[in-house]
Amino acid sequence: MDIIRVEGGHALAGAVHVSGAKNSALKLMAATLLAPGVTTLTNVPNISDVHVMGKVLKRMGATIEVVDEHSLAIDTSAVDSWEAPYELVAKMRASTAVMGPLLGRFGCAKIAMPGGCNLGARKIDMHILGLEALGVEFDTDHGYIHASAPQGLSGTTVTLEFASVGATENLIMASVRAEGTTVIDNAAREPEIVDLANMLNEMGARITGAGTPVVQIEGVDELHPVTHRVIGDRIEAGTFIVAGALAAGPEGIEVTGFSPAHLGMVLKKFELMGIDVERTDEGVRVHRARGIRPVDIQTLPFPGFPTDMQAQAMVLSALAEGSSVITENIFENRFMFASELVRMGADIRIEGHHAMIHGVDGYSGAQVTSPDLRGGAALAVAGLIAEGYTEVSAIHHIDRGYEHFVEKLCALGAHVERVAVPDPIDD
Ligand code: EPU
Repeated sequence: MDIIRVEGGHALAGAVHVSGAKNSALKLMAATLLAPGVTTLTNVPNISDVHVMGKVLKRMGATIEVVDEHSLAIDTSAVDSWEAPYELVAKMRASTAVMGPLLGRFGCAKIAMPGGCNLGARKIDMHILGLEALGVEFDTDHGYIHASAPQGLSGTTVTLEFASVGATENLIMASVRAEGTTVIDNAAREPEIVDLANMLNEMGARITGAGTPVVQIEGVDELHPVTHRVIGDRIEAGTFIVAGALAAGPEGIEVTGFSPAHLGMVLKKFELMGIDVERTDEGVRVHRARGIRPVDIQTLPFPGFPTDMQAQAMVLSALAEGSSVITENIFENRFMFASELVRMGADIRIEGHHAMIHGVDGYSGAQVTSPDLRGGAALAVAGLIAEGYTEVSAIHHIDRGYEHFVEKLCALGAHVERVAVPDPIDD
């Protein structure tokens, strides 16, 4: 069992380069199923979620050559199975992203039902309703969803009840091969969706409007393999920006490898909090010369404040000179992190989907547990300025989405190490 141990109080300096976006790479990997042949993805993050998606594709008959640490050549010509098995879907819900491309290419898919996760129930009803409108028939048994389109997929207008990222992506990936035109109304607008649409268009798809609430897809007969570079990870960037806002020395730190436009609302809120964020050609330079001002935040679909930055923002808010409220509108269960931060001295009260935060003077290092991916990273970041040592356990969550997290923090001057500790239950 590994933990991350952080010794607080060391100023950060220098630059950190973020990896490719997890939530883009996973969907782009799934989308390679649509184009028989070898698609090469570059700037792929070397994280455990990517390894799981690799296993999902291999189980279906794809072969994957690791060209270098960040480039994968995925050959989907010999895919002859359409199943995402339970052990992989249970490990990573994003495995369900293969449903759209399998339906687009083969007209059928068998996907283990994802069940709940530590962010809440996380249903996929909108994926299913949208695909049904395209002509897909669904059946469930023994924990699996069987999807088939005996008459083929036919384009129509799908209005999503909520701008779901996953539903928008599955619908785009299915409808690129549908007969006629599909319109997705109230589509999600996240930058990862634009990246997906860009790659599909490079493959020969005809998608317009990605990044707006109305996406139009004109079906085509075939897609061809391409080489595509994954966009930089805005959430990893945001996490390091919070680290800089908390712990950077007088020169600040530079965070590169992503587009600041993908973090518009986050940077705006951080600037209101008194953090200096200077846009550079490569990313941003961040530093803070004053106390943190309390600012209310609510999470919303893009271009609103991302739920994936909520925990990291709370680390800042909990040290503000005053009180603030963070409202979580996307996931029903994303405040587990707050109770861990309270163990480090924060003053936070949760009421439904609101967190009432009263700023405190500082954190005190403690043993804490990663509740999920972003919460785990946020706890390690809080440890950077905590008094004494912070030990974060359950760091497999962090490994899902942050490449070389400890090494990147150390390169900035933090005192952080990954330590193997015996499981106390075995004593
Ligand atoms: N929802 C439904 N029914 C559906 C689909 C979604 O009720 O059919 C609900 C979900 O339960 C959730 C909300 O709608 O409460 C938003 O879900 P959405 O579909 O937008 O999210 P997702 O596709 O499951 C992706 C990211 C998440 C990120 C969200 C929101 C991936 C692999 N995951 O999830 O990333 O938080 O969009 O931006 O792309 C993370 O990286 O840590 C992470 C959790």
